[in-house]
Amino acid sequence: DKKITIAIDGFSSTGKSTLAKQLAKELGYVYVDTGAMYRAIALFAMQNGYIKEDFFDKEGLVASLPTIRLQFKFNPDLGFAEMYLNEVNVEKEIRTIEVSRFVSKVAELSDVRAKLVEQQKEMGKNKGIVMDGRDIGTVVFPDAELKIFMTASAATRAQRRYDELIQKGDSVTFEEVLKNVEERDYIDTHRSNSPLVKAEDAVEIDNSHLTREEQFKAVLELIDEIT
Ligand code: C5P
Repeated sequence: DKKITIAIDGFSSTGKSTLAKQLAKELGYVYVDTGAMYRAIALFAMQNGYIKEDFFDKEGLVASLPTIRLQFKFNPDLGFAEMYLNEVNVEKEIRTIEVSRFVSKVAELSDVRAKLVEQQKEMGKNKGIVMDGRDIGTVVFPDAELKIFMTASAATRAQRRYDELIQKGDSVTFEEVLKNVEERDYIDTHRSNSPLVKAEDAVEIDNSHLTREEQFKAVLELIDEIT
């Protein structure tokens, strides 16, 4: 079978990464979670005092972008790649609610997006890749052979994210998580720079009422038709 590029976009917590990981494993493709890259930049901004509640030194962050090195390193025990920020494994830190609170503000900056999109294009140049995010089918890989756009209601998504955070031992309330999901949806769809939109040629999957297995099978059938 020929190797293709699979772009998966959609709102937060629609199960994009679960589907993308399953597909990558089944097909022997590379999986890239672009949200992790934006999250790592947000973490860097927090660690270096560029962003706090009600404070954001955009120029300072942009000026320091050349010093930021992002890498994915495959962890064979977990079966997927983990995010490294300047040689440090930040996989856990980037998934906290604090990072979620700032990430969409950081992702609005055109210099941040330019840096990450360039690295993402480079990672996909040999195809055989499943990448998930917000602008993969529209900006990063406009020529991807398969584009999926995932949706689900905000309440369904907040419940999923809440369950994940509780399981990891975070003390959050459902209301806090729902508010964060809705705020990120708003910023992600309204920003002037690469807003989240469904690519014209993307296949939409509303997974509020689909099991993981049903989604996975449906997408595998689409891939069979292409390859
Ligand atoms: O996918 P995840 O929820 O981890 O993404 C975190 C945030 O990163 C999103 O809410 C969005 O603001 C930003 N993002 C983006 N473009 C991408 C991936 C993520 O703007 N391709």
